Amino acid sequence: MKVTIVGAGAVGATCADNITRRGIAHELVLLDIKEGLAEGKALDIFQTASLCGFDTRISGSTNDYSKTAGSDIVVITSGIPRKPGMTREELIGTNANIVKGVTENILKFSPDAIIIIVSNPMDTMTYLSLKSSGLAKNKIIGMGGILDSARFKTYLSFALNCSPSDLHGTVIGGHGDTTMIPLTRLATLNSNPISNLLSEEELKKVAADTMVGGATLTKLLGTSAWYAPGAAVAALVESIVKDQKKVFPCCVSLNGEYGQNDICLGVPVVIGKNGWEKIIDYKLNAEEQAEFNKSADAVRSMNAVLATL
Ligand code: 2OP
Repeated sequence: MKVTIVGAGAVGATCADNITRRGIAHELVLLDIKEGLAEGKALDIFQTASLCGFDTRISGSTNDYSKTAGSDIVVITSGIPRKPGMTREELIGTNANIVKGVTENILKFSPDAIIIIVSNPMDTMTYLSLKSSGLAKNKIIGMGGILDSARFKTYLSFALNCSPSDLHGTVIGGHGDTTMIPLTRLATLNSNPISNLLSEEELKKVAADTMVGGATLTKLLGTSAWYAPGAAVAALVESIVKDQKKVFPCCVSLNGEYGQNDICLGVPVVIGKNGWEKIIDYKLNAEEQAEFNKSADAVRSMNAVLATL
């Protein structure tokens, strides 16, 4: 399969590094508007092929979308990242134009591609890409919940002193500091509910740390994170390429599911060769559903800003 990554910044390049290093795709194109950046990063990554043992052909392009022709999957990371103290939502004005333009250019050469949106504010950018592309809803996937869930498992592993790999935990709702919902009630350590292992207060702290997981890194790094976002995208791409049918929380178009309509929001979905193939109903309790509705309201008012740009 051919994968294109638009945006060769830290997130885009780390996605490319993960996908090539793990031999997930046969061909990968990295594209950026900055002269030489994508070519340089692609060449640097390809020079690791003999060391890391992969065959993926990776190449770079300065804004020449014809090089992306026939892509099966396109990951859009373009746009400005947040700076310390900024919310993801503050990026909307700049990133909306970029994401809309990139989506149009991609579709000229890859009309059947599955599109993964990483640019922030991700839920609104996913909605924008869905509306402006006219693609089938299953082909537009926003990447946020899978990353937030990885952060959830990180903080749980700190609290429980256990391996993150032994944990199951899901974050649904928006990919925003105040809109994401770590589902502590459903999280388990090797099938043992974590509520058996942590106090109410400890659970609250894990959830709070998870929600500002991205902001904590932005403060430490001076810009937004890239290793975990890159690995999260690679896991998503792998499930599509290998038709693994893994269940990941992703931002997808809701038409009545989880009580919401005309919105893209994070819910657990099956990811396979057709994109997101099915929404899984986790049967939220009343409190969780109320939080989900609140998250939807916040994302909906962000979506409304699109009409004013
Ligand atoms: C993050 O949470 C970049 O939104 C991404 O790190």
